[in-house]
Amino acid sequence: MSSKTRLADDATVVQRILEHIDNRTTDLAETTWREPVENYRSPKRFAAELQLLRATTAAVCPSAALPDAGSYVARDVAGTPLLAVRGPDGRVRTFRNACRHRGTQLADGTGCQKAFVCRYHGWTYGLDGELRHVPHEYGFPGLDKSTRGLVPLETMETRGIVFVTPPHGNALLDDLPPLIPPNFRLVGSEQGELPVNWKILVESFLEGYHIRSTHSGTFYPLQFDNLNVVERFGRNGRIAFPYRAINKLRPLPPEERSADGTLTYVYHLFPNIMIATFPARRFLVVLEPLTPDCTRQHTFMLTDRDEHDSEARELLTRARELVDAGATEDREVALAIQRGLASGGNEFFEFGLFEGLIGHFHRNLQAALDQERKRDDGSRPAA
Ligand code: FES
Ligand SMILES: [Fe+2]
Repeated sequence: MSSKTRLADDATVVQRILEHIDNRTTDLAETTWREPVENYRSPKRFAAELQLLRATTAAVCPSAALPDAGSYVARDVAGTPLLAVRGPDGRVRTFRNACRHRGTQLADGTGCQKAFVCRYHGWTYGLDGELRHVPHEYGFPGLDKSTRGLVPLETMETRGIVFVTPPHGNALLDDLPPLIPPNFRLVGSEQGELPVNWKILVESFLEGYHIRSTHSGTFYPLQFDNLNVVERFGRNGRIAFPYRAINKLRPLPPEERSADGTLTYVYHLFPNIMIATFPARRFLVVLEPLTPDCTRQHTFMLTDRDEHDSEARELLTRARELVDAGATEDREVALAIQRGLASGGNEFFEFGLFEGLIGHFHRNLQAALDQERKRDDGSRPAA
């Protein structure tokens, strides 16, 4: 499928869903996919995946996590400690999070500062990364401060997300759909480590075949089981999970059929970024692989509702409880899959026609790893 593939508008997605409801059908992939179990366990494969992630455009945080001049987010992206900060000019810059004197990390977590002062000896950097002040500078004869600013990375803020692109990184940003509209505010963020391979966690977002079995008391009462509209754009994808309430759109003309409150979209940006839409809430989830069997999950929660409005607050609380309960169920399944990896019961996992977006993910991952390997082989001198 071409990278120019456009996503359908809400009216088209809703129409396809209503037809699936009437026909008791769902979107089907053209083929199934078999993924070797070894690919979830092998340290060699994991090292190649991490190298690929380091060479791929990555999401640092939502724009809304950096609302003001001086707002910053410091976190490890594909194993590299980074610091993203909004300058007084409104621009977000991302730097390697290390002082240029003796390497101390400059910032932790999130906050808002006028400058970054290293805790060790006080070297001070502006929000633009420039080295502004060195205490007792005469101890560094010949120091050219203009060459010792923080080391920047190519940064792009688009679709409500801050991305970094490594040198020669793969383009991800062409043709992205709107993801987080500017009126969304950050209402919370969390990070946690899970003893699960990162790809098992990615997979848990990308199909609706498990809604009834896994989410019988949470999502299933509100959503359909195994009824999805699945789209691909480039290496990315989007899956729509309709709520039963979508039936109320039937009498409306197409232009009035809104996805808000009638379905959840999950966008998958290859390889490890997810954006999920819920009523009054949006989530940005980034999965950072740490080892073959451990992943750090960053979750940023956003809302477009006024939290002083008590009705909106109630809706938000209910949405949060529901999503938390559903996410807990997904996590338990992911842990169970991870525990099963060592059983030797499977040489491969089989993803069926309902799980086409997972096949798309693995197919693209394999192709990207093959390409990286060829590049590596090509850059090695011939024996
Ligand atoms: S390491 Fe930062 S000022 Fe010395
Ligand atoms: Fe789920």
